[in-house]
Formats: sequence, C-alpha cells, structure tokens
Amino acid sequence: MSAEIINGKELAQQLKDNMKNEVTELRDKGITPHLTVVLIGDNPASKSYVKGKKKASAETGISSDIIELPDSTSEEKLLQLISELNNDPEVDGILVQLPLPEHIAEQKVIEYIDPGKDVDGFHPVNIGRMMTGKDTFLPCTPFGIVTMLKSKNIAISGQHVVVIGRSNIVGKPVGQLLLNENATVTYCHSKTKGLKQFTKMADILIVAVGIPGAIGADHIKPGAAIIDVGINRLADGSLTGDVDFEEAKEVASYITPVPKGVGPMTITMLLQNTIKAAKGRKA
Ligand code: GUN
Repeated sequence: MSAEIINGKELAQQLKDNMKNEVTELRDKGITPHLTVVLIGDNPASKSYVKGKKKASAETGISSDIIELPDSTSEEKLLQLISELNNDPEVDGILVQLPLPEHIAEQKVIEYIDPGKDVDGFHPVNIGRMMTGKDTFLPCTPFGIVTMLKSKNIAISGQHVVVIGRSNIVGKPVGQLLLNENATVTYCHSKTKGLKQFTKMADILIVAVGIPGAIGADHIKPGAAIIDVGINRLADGSLTGDVDFEEAKEVASYITPVPKGVGPMTITMLLQNTIKAAKGRKA
C-alpha cells in the first residue's frame, strides 16, 4: 500500500483563495484586516517565519507590519508596546514571535495581549474557551491539523488519536481539539515507557517531537493516518520531519509530507484567525 499524501501547500492555497473574497467583503465595509507581528532579537528561524507570515498576509489582502526590536528590549517596553497595540482600533491581530529572550517572561507577555486580538490562540482565556468547546481563536498548528484531516474526510469521531509531544503550542491543544471532535486521545511524550505499544494502536498518529526520523514503519498500525509536525533542518540545509516518510507511506493510509505539509497550514490558520478578529472589530 502507498499512502495518500495530504498536501498542505495545496490546501493552504485553496483556503487563501477563499480568504481573498472574505477580505474583499470586509474591505468593502471599510475594514482592512491588519496583523501586527512583534519580533524581538535576530533568531534566524524566527525571522524566516515572520517573513512567511507577512508574505502570506499580502497574498490574501490582509495588511501587516513587523515591529522589530533588539534583543536588549526590556519586558516593560514590550508590555507598553502591547498595550498600545491592544488599544489601536486598526490592529486586529497581535502576534509576538516566540521564543523571547530569557529576561522576558513569555507567559506574562502572552497574558498581556487582548484575548480578542490573540490570533495565536495562546491566551489562557482562549485556551479555556477551546477546552470547553466554545467558539474562539484556535492555536494555528492544531487548527491546521484538524482542517487537513477534515479536508480528506478522515474519520475522527470514535477513532483513537495518539499524540506524541505535549507542548502548549501543538501537542496539548491538538489532543484537546480532537477530543472535542469525539476522538479517544492518548498523549505520549519523552517520559512515556514503551512508546511503540501506544503508537501501534493509533488510527491517527500525530508526531511533534522535533527528532528527525523518530517514527518508522514499525511504530505504525497499517492504514493509520500520519500527521508529521516536525520541521528539522539537516546539515545539508534541507528540511525533514519527525517521521521516516519513505517507510511510513508504505504502511499508512494518509500521510503529511515535510515540507509542504503542516507548515503552510499553520500560517494559513493565522490568517483565518486575523480575518475572524477583523470581523469582530468593535465599531
Ligand atoms: N514560534 C514558533 N511557532 C510560533 C507560533 O505559532 N506563534 C508564535 N507567536 N511564535 C511561534
């Protein structure tokens, strides 16, 4: 068997094409959705992600700006900036690129952002709303994963989802979103004993561990859907996921590639959240 590939790049393009119409409708009403990205320091990966966010925004007609500040920026100065953005009626979405320098308390910054502008879906108010199944800004990578599964009509209700990884950004929320869709969810992580016995039970296996090739054919139940969240840069500069793609695709029914898998979907969901924020703009 050779698995069907879920092409995140193509799906992201389709979604962005639809978003263009939504943005045009908002612009006709005098609302131009606007995303402000705050980037502190010069982490090369962060710079590259932020550039991707700006480019994708422009493709859909969303306006955006990047506020770049030096590594030495104080926490107080960053909180002051967030306060100004919270009060700016023209700013719909605020994204502070993580990680932050060590002298700035990440959680404090996240909690300072107006939950109505938290297009990352990281604010505890939005996390709480997600936990209770209420309409809210969903964290972008988990939202993208659920959208990919639904795009292929992959059954979720009653299925066994195994998530490897328990980060606040991906692992924990993706399990929660799929639980909301009536999946049975198992979380595995670096302290899990006997990982394979769990992964082999998965109808849907979500891998977010950050180790190239951590999951091979012998971890996978025949016919499972495999979602690879890993983005690992190899010595030759190429990108690879956490799953051994060539092996896994012979066992799985569906699989996401890296690149062109989950990555493009994450940015697209950020745009979707920005449009949602603009729709809720207070007059
Ligand atoms: N750093 C890596 N991924 C993300 C993300 O989704 N949002 C923010 N704000 N920072 C990140």
